[in-house]
Amino acid sequence: MKTSQKWWEETKNDEAKLNRWLQRQYVGEFAAVNLLSEILLRFGSEMTHRDRHNVFRVMTQEALHGSWMSELLTNRDLQPETDGVATQRYWAEVLPNVNSFKDAMQAAMQAESMRLHRIRAIAADEEAPEDIRRIFKAILPHEEWHERVFGEMKGDHYNETIANDHEKGLGALSLVLA
Ligand SMILES: [Fe+2]
Ligand SMILES: [Fe+2]
Repeated sequence: MKTSQKWWEETKNDEAKLNRWLQRQYVGEFAAVNLLSEILLRFGSEMTHRDRHNVFRVMTQEALHGSWMSELLTNRDLQPETDGVATQRYWAEVLPNVNSFKDAMQAAMQAESMRLHRIRAIAADEEAPEDIRRIFKAILPHEEWHERVFGEMKGDHYNETIANDHEKGLGALSLVLA
C-alpha cells in the first residue's frame, strides 16, 4: 500500500509503468461515461431534473477527458489499454451493493476522491512531463467539481457497506490515500 505522492514519484520515473498508467486512464475516463449512463438508466426515476442534468454534465466532461487522453496517447505513439483490468477490479468490489441513486452518488464521490489524490500530485509537480501535466491541470477543476456535486447529490446518505467496499476496492488496486 502506498501514498499518491510516492506512487507518482515511482511512476513518472519508470517509463513503461507511466505509459501503462496513461493507457489505463483512457479506459477509466470512458468507463466513467458508461457508469454514469448506467446511473441515468437505472435510477432516473429517483432523480430530480437537476440531478439528471448534473450527472449528464459530469458524463460529458469525462468523455472530454477521454478524448484528451486519446490525444496524449497518440502523441506518445501509444494505444489505449484494451481490457481495463484495474478499473474493473475496483468497480467489481463497489458495484454489487449499489442499489439506489444515493448509493451510486456515494460510490461516485468515493471514486472521484480517490482519483483526485493522484491528479493533484501530478498537477502540482513542476517536473512532471509537460504533456501530462497540462492535461491533468485541465482535468483537475472538473474532477474537483465532480467530487463536490456527487457529494451534494448524496446529501446525508451514508451506506456503510459501500464505504467498506471502497476500502476493498482500494485494496484491490494496492493504493492507500494520503
Ligand atoms: Fe475524468
Ligand atoms: Fe470525474
